Amino acid sequence: MLTNITYLAKVKIVTMSFAKNAGSPLNCLLSVAPMMDWTDRHCRYFHRLLSTRALLYTEMITTGALIFGDSNYHLRHNSEEHPVALQLGGSDPKDLARCAQLAFQHGYDEVNLNCGCPSERVQRGAFGACLMNESKLVAECVKAMRDASPLPVTVKHRIGLGRGESFDFVSDFVGEVSQAGCTTFIVHARNAWLEGLSPKENREIPPLKPDWAYRLKQEFPKLEFVYNGGVKTLADIQLHLQHLDGVMVGREAYHNPWILTSWDAVFESQTVHSQTPSDSTSDTSHKPSLTREEVEALMVIYMEREQKENNVHWSSVARHMLGLYHAQPGGKRWRRVWSDHKLKNKTPQEVSSIAQQALIKEREKLNLAGEALINN
Ligand SMILES: Cc1cc2nc3c(=O)[nH]c(=O)nc-3n(C[C@H](O)[C@H](O)[C@H](O)COP(=O)(O)O)c2cc1C
Repeated sequence: MLTNITYLAKVKIVTMSFAKNAGSPLNCLLSVAPMMDWTDRHCRYFHRLLSTRALLYTEMITTGALIFGDSNYHLRHNSEEHPVALQLGGSDPKDLARCAQLAFQHGYDEVNLNCGCPSERVQRGAFGACLMNESKLVAECVKAMRDASPLPVTVKHRIGLGRGESFDFVSDFVGEVSQAGCTTFIVHARNAWLEGLSPKENREIPPLKPDWAYRLKQEFPKLEFVYNGGVKTLADIQLHLQHLDGVMVGREAYHNPWILTSWDAVFESQTVHSQTPSDSTSDTSHKPSLTREEVEALMVIYMEREQKENNVHWSSVARHMLGLYHAQPGGKRWRRVWSDHKLKNKTPQEVSSIAQQALIKEREKLNLAGEALINN
């Protein structure tokens, strides 16, 4: 229990120091990608328990939803989540300016414009990836957002549209948008094919070209570039960080969230390096602050709080932590318990006990099977 309290205090200190820095560029070294239906506030709370430093992004929220819908509902987040960036979908400078203001008023640390989503719905709204054809308009949007709010404005984009193979296309886009004051670009390093592929296929089929992201950095050394696309391991992260300023991880962070526990050490090694440039070792060996069991216990407390204060059923929270025991012995059993709808009337504490028992039982079985193999 003492560990938990110490850890929460640590999270609080880090988040307070970020809140104080509102307006100055955020540390974009490592971030969890915006993912619709996935990176909601519950998911971000969970991810924050795994890394105190990672920059967390919301799902994309459209300007229409914020201006005509319930903005308080859409913008609600937990104080523990900082640093947290709001991703916007839209293409009207006035609307985006209004939403950037709202982002500031609601305490976000950064506002990001989506220029990478290829879905048909988004194309019908004339925003997302199709904005890469409209670099002047994107520059106007960025300028309007910067004028309206003191928050850093960043852009997340692809490296091309359709089967186009022109580096000049993405380089011209970055050049034009940076003129409006955007200094951080998150590069999902594959094209978006606007016809014939689903959004899911658009994250898998167009080939990744990390070299193009690296080339952007060479062309615009004063701008910050964050690599995104297909990152799975700490080794991948280290590789991209040799060329670029940051790495954003999407699906792997969601399905295998324990990787986030190695990230604080990467932030720390960055600090050490910037203080002593002659030190060329990169010690990112890490000791996670919390065990998986402690993370689960903190999530149970969060689920109880959400149930009490916001009438949120635990399953809406638990669905984001199903990867906690990814690739661990007994992990599948544990996951099955937390996704079992038959347990929906139990309290989160009861479900957690059943899940832990299932985990232990499965591990005992695996140990017995292992021993039997050795004895034979
Ligand atoms: C379920 C899902 C939803 C996504 N929603 C968004 C979104 O709202 N905004 C966005 O910019 N990208 C979105 N993406 C794309 C990711 O941010 C990221 O660019 C992409 O998954 C590639 O990174 P990865 O290979 O690390 O997953 C989504 C991806 C997934 C899997």
